[in-house]
This record gives sequence, C-alpha cells and structure tokens, in this order.
Amino acid sequence: MNPGTVLDDVLAAAPHAIDGADSLDDLDRVESGLLGKASKIAEVRRSMGSLDSAERPRVGARLSEVTEQIQTMLAARRSTLEIEDEARRLGEERIDVTLESYVFPRGSLHLIQQTIDEIVDIFVGLGYLVADGPEAELGWYNFDALNTPPTHPSRLESDTMYLDYGDPDDELLLRTQTSPVQVRWMEQHQPPVYVVVPGKVYRQETTDATHLPVFHQIEGLTVDEAIRFSDLKGTLAHFSRAFFGPRTEVRLRPHFFPFTEPSAELDVSCFSCDGGVAGCRVCGGAGWLEMLGCGMVDPNVLAAVGYDPETLSGFAFGMGVERMAMVRHGINDIRHLVDNDLRFLRQF
Ligand code: DAH
Repeated sequence: MNPGTVLDDVLAAAPHAIDGADSLDDLDRVESGLLGKASKIAEVRRSMGSLDSAERPRVGARLSEVTEQIQTMLAARRSTLEIEDEARRLGEERIDVTLESYVFPRGSLHLIQQTIDEIVDIFVGLGYLVADGPEAELGWYNFDALNTPPTHPSRLESDTMYLDYGDPDDELLLRTQTSPVQVRWMEQHQPPVYVVVPGKVYRQETTDATHLPVFHQIEGLTVDEAIRFSDLKGTLAHFSRAFFGPRTEVRLRPHFFPFTEPSAELDVSCFSCDGGVAGCRVCGGAGWLEMLGCGMVDPNVLAAVGYDPETLSGFAFGMGVERMAMVRHGINDIRHLVDNDLRFLRQF
C-alpha cells in the first residue's frame, strides 16, 4: 500500500483509539500500538530506504507530521486521565477529620478554688498582688516573727503538726496559718505592701462538721505610710459587699491576735435574713456572721523584718476559705467539701 495512504489511515483512526483509552495503562498500550516498534508508522519508517528519492522527502515530512499529531493527541489524553486519576485517588483517600472521637466529660473548678479565685479577684481589683509561701514552714515564720511567744498554746503539739523539732529557726512544722507569708513577703520587698496570700494550712484537729485538719486561708497585708484603722474597715467593707452583696453591713468586734494591735473580728450582717430572724438557717437568729480576723500590724512585726514602725503602718486580715464558701452557699457540713461526691460538687 502507498505509505501516504497508510499514514492517513493511521491518523484518521488515532483519535478513536486514544479517546477510547480509559486508564493511563490503557493509554500506554494504545501509544505503543500507534508509535511502537510493531506499529504501522514504524513500518513506514523502515520502508523509507526503499522509496525512490523523489518520494522519500514527501513521505518523510508526512511521517513526522503524523507522528507529531498523534503525540499531541496522546499528551492531551494523558493529562485528562491524570487529572481524573488524581481526583479519584483524593476521593478514595479522603479522611473525614470532623469525625467525632470519644468525648471526655468536662470538669470544673472545685468550689474551694472558685471561692479563692473570687476573693483574690476582689483584692486584685483594689491593686493587691498575689503571693504564696511554703506549707512546710519554720517555727520562726509561723510564730516568732509574728510576735507569738514560745509559750503560746497554739504552739503545742496538740494544735500544731511538727515535722522536725528544734530551735525556732530550724524547727519545721506544717504552717497553721497563711500569716507567715506576711513576714516572708516583707523580707523580700520594700514597702508599700498590698498583697493577698491564698493557701493551705494544717492543724491538729478532729474532723467534724466545722473542722478539717487541712483547710485554706487567704491572708491579706497592707503596709504603707499613714495606713489607719479606717482603711482596714473600708477595705474589708468593700470586700464584704463584693462577696456577699451590696446591702451587707459590717461590724468589728475587739479580739486578740499576737501579730496585730488592736485586733478585731469582722462580722457581716446575715445576707439570708437581713438581721435577726429567729431560727434563720444561716445565722441562727444572731443577725451577724463571724467572718475573719484582722487588725493593725503590730509594730514588733514591722521591726522584725526591718521596716520602720515610726513611718510605716498597716493592717492585716486572715479568712478561712471553706467558711466563706459554706456561709455563702448555706453548706452545713465542711466535710462535703472533701468528700468528692459529684452530686454535691456539680451544684457549683
Ligand atoms: N492567722 C489567723 C488565724 O489563723 C487569722 C488572722 C487574724 C490573720 C488576724 C491576720 C490577722 O492577718 O490580722 O486564726
């Protein structure tokens, strides 16, 4: 057959064969059928030598033209198949990242921590800093530097848990109050001092409805020039209203603490009965709730840390966190706070 006609036939049949290939492997087979060693085109190329010299350039030109066109068609089909192939693979290998995994039950802060955060926030709002100190404390910080004499009954083993006996400065105990951090802070910082100290404290205590051997306190200390008793009262009144509600009244009753002079206990008016309803569930009819201890910092405490009691004065206070939470929420047994019964804890 005339080589020109062979090439025309091959070119005419090529689109059908190429478009009919529906995979890349299939297209490879079509390609070798069209252009490979056993193809008609290869046959024409081999026959070139036997053509006469007039015909050879014409057939040669047509041969490369047809080859090129077929290659172009193959390349176009190949790229279509590659795109389809990729789309199919992406579809098959797709991972649904939105699939829900095991849902962990969400926890919440314990009521004691919530109460600490809330109280600390009120003082931070007044410009106070937050400090902490060690729970294993030296006798010196827990008692002596706080103007507490060696004979004070709270130092007895029946009140305080000792880790190691010795002189005050190597006697190790579990702190019975957060007050020692007053001293530690003043040793490390120059006045003015506006600091609150939340933390755990320990006492030799038999557990009952109102006592735990481990509980929490928040200490407060203010030292500056010309701090007066009225500053103490105003600060604690602000705190009481922020924590118990804007209608809360406060009163101060004389008391004694070794590290303050004068010392007082702060009562707040009962937020439940608003003062003296017989048999009130919260105050028992007294109309007042005992809230915390406080007082003007004893000059001996200032002197013990090298502050000048002539130019500086201050006030301090200490409150029990569990007590604050119990009064506020009407909890009648402190042990609920450590029983870890979710039916109780979930209420807060
Ligand atoms: N540390 C005292 C206690 O545990 C509470 C207290 C009273 C702290 C008066 C103070 C204060 O800072 O001024 O009973």
